[in-house]
Amino acid sequence: NHCRRHCHYCGLAAGQEGLFRYRMDDDEICAAARLARDCGYGTLVLQAGEDPGLGSQRMAELIRRLKAETGLAITLSLGERSDADLQAWRAAGADRYLLRFETSNPQLYRRIHPNHGSEISNRLALLRRLKAMGYAIGSGFMVGIPGQSRADVAQDLCTLAQLDCDMIGIGPYLAHPATPLGKRAAGNRPERDQCPADLDTVATAVALARLLCPWANIPATTAVATLDPQHGREDMLCRGANVVMPNCTPLAYRELYQIYPDKACQHESAEQCHSCLNARLRAIGRQPGEGPGHAQPRDRYPMPAIPLPGSQPCLL
Ligand code: 5AD
Ligand code: FES
Repeated sequence: NHCRRHCHYCGLAAGQEGLFRYRMDDDEICAAARLARDCGYGTLVLQAGEDPGLGSQRMAELIRRLKAETGLAITLSLGERSDADLQAWRAAGADRYLLRFETSNPQLYRRIHPNHGSEISNRLALLRRLKAMGYAIGSGFMVGIPGQSRADVAQDLCTLAQLDCDMIGIGPYLAHPATPLGKRAAGNRPERDQCPADLDTVATAVALARLLCPWANIPATTAVATLDPQHGREDMLCRGANVVMPNCTPLAYRELYQIYPDKACQHESAEQCHSCLNARLRAIGRQPGEGPGHAQPRDRYPMPAIPLPGSQPCLL
């Protein structure tokens, strides 16, 4: 949970005080990965803050070891790193990289990402380079960020289509009271065209993402499950999402990884989360797939190229 960024919405941001910072060691990570494999999962996401303490070589060795020990497809979600690091990890066997753009509105992006050099254009360029390096790429955004309009979300959806994402993560913005954005929003009246951070709006965005990128893997995100623990994930799975992401992080670390408060699945072990999710899937008549879970081949979905909106107004 170390991070060098100061994102205004995130509970793990560099400025957050009173948070015990930890790094899992390689043996702990491999043990968690074996649990995932034993649950029958075909793929694993390794996520951390943007942490310079995660050295390039250490990560490369870890990826090789995980591949050798478990054979799982590996997705990295480690923030913006140098091209050299990203290439080394790809060469070590990493299959996919997740990096949300959070919002495609350049002014809003700048406002909530105060670090020097935080520009939406940099992030989109990095996503394109990741693709060129051979990664399957995932991106996405939050719905209902204070100051985000519905038109912004429409542009976010177009941006996903432009990026030609293999994986798409869309979740509600959840106010974290210890963050600058969480504090500010609490006292402010929302602007008139503020996009709501509710389940229905997120589900609409997920459904539109499914139509725009029919080949993509779209998770029913943990943030959705946090917003509505009873029905959140199930609603998304019935409206365009096709992936669930059970948590295999050792219990001791979960409460230290609160990007936002009351994160779903916080108190359940990997095995409990596994059986809970299985029961939830069964209840809506679904069963988990097998294998590495790659995105569907594009040519299965012959559809006209989406006109790239660029600075044009989006037609959605
Ligand atoms: N509410 C909802 N989602 C958040 N994320 C970060 N902070 C919040 C928040 N307060 C999401 C971001 C990030 C992902 C790891 O978690 O979209 O990319
Ligand atoms: Fe993780 Fe229910 S889905 S505990």
